Amino acid sequence: MSSRVGILTSKAGITTIKLRDGLSKFLNAEIIEMSRFFDDFSELKNYGIAMNYINSRQQITLGSIAETMTTLINDVSTFMRCKSKALVSFLMRKNGIPVPETFILSYPYTEEKIEEILRRVDFPLIVKPNSGSCGKASILVREEDDLRGVLDYISAIHEIPPVSEKIVVLQEYVRDARDLRAFFVGDEIVAVEERVKEGGWKKNLAQGAHPERFEMSEEQKELIYRASKVLGVKYAGFDILSGEEDYILEVNPAPGLKISEIYPEIFEKIAKFLKEEMRR
Ligand SMILES: Nc1ncnc2c1ncn2[C@@H]1O[C@H](COP(=O)(O)OP(=O)(O)O)[C@@H](O)[C@H]1O
Ligand SMILES: [Mg+2]
Repeated sequence: MSSRVGILTSKAGITTIKLRDGLSKFLNAEIIEMSRFFDDFSELKNYGIAMNYINSRQQITLGSIAETMTTLINDVSTFMRCKSKALVSFLMRKNGIPVPETFILSYPYTEEKIEEILRRVDFPLIVKPNSGSCGKASILVREEDDLRGVLDYISAIHEIPPVSEKIVVLQEYVRDARDLRAFFVGDEIVAVEERVKEGGWKKNLAQGAHPERFEMSEEQKELIYRASKVLGVKYAGFDILSGEEDYILEVNPAPGLKISEIYPEIFEKIAKFLKEEMRR
């Protein structure tokens, strides 16, 4: 079998370039932009394994075709399972793993549903797109009028084609929490950062937070190991919101690699994992 590693992406960007450059010291890694294929994807057979950094909206079609040609890390169903915040929260709760209290509101948002939700939630709460990233389009909603306004606004946008998933997530706001990211490879946590930001409640790196090395407690690590087993994922960024309690916040199956700036050793660990997977 080929020992070449493909990095599949919709468009090469900062993360995939970092990944290729970082892995290149240890193995033969190349970026493959999926838009280069029209009907014949057989070139992908030349790769022993491929990292799945395909845009989530192109997973079902391009990811699934790629899967017929090579082994994907992560496979499409694992990727999609992780990418849905609503599904992750549901699966965590089902398995006794703490998550912020989370409601799934699927379109259409009728008056009946809104009233039911209003009876169940406490303000403030976070409203966020189910499969969003980088903190984009997440809103801190402080009272009923705001929630109604946001839902009206989202409903109006949902009417515009091309249709989106039409699912939003409403989530308990965890106050004064630290944002922790564990980079998980194979069956171990290889790096942990805290995202530190003065002011504002969104601590994404894309929202101006900066990463600092962080040592997780055994209990926090245990949450991640349990969550990884529930999701069946071997390569992901696990986010913990750590307030009075620790919660699994989200799982990113195509994690960014800025963390390598403070943990340069992670590429060797990813490379080792990929080599092991290729031998399987
Ligand atoms: N329920 C919450 N309570 C407190 N802060 C939150 C909550 N949900 C999100 N945040 C903040 O917003 C950021 C982005 O939210 P997240 O759910 O991770 O979505 P995204 O996919 O956009 O990163 C988090 O890193 C955290 O700082
Ligand atoms: Mg996040």
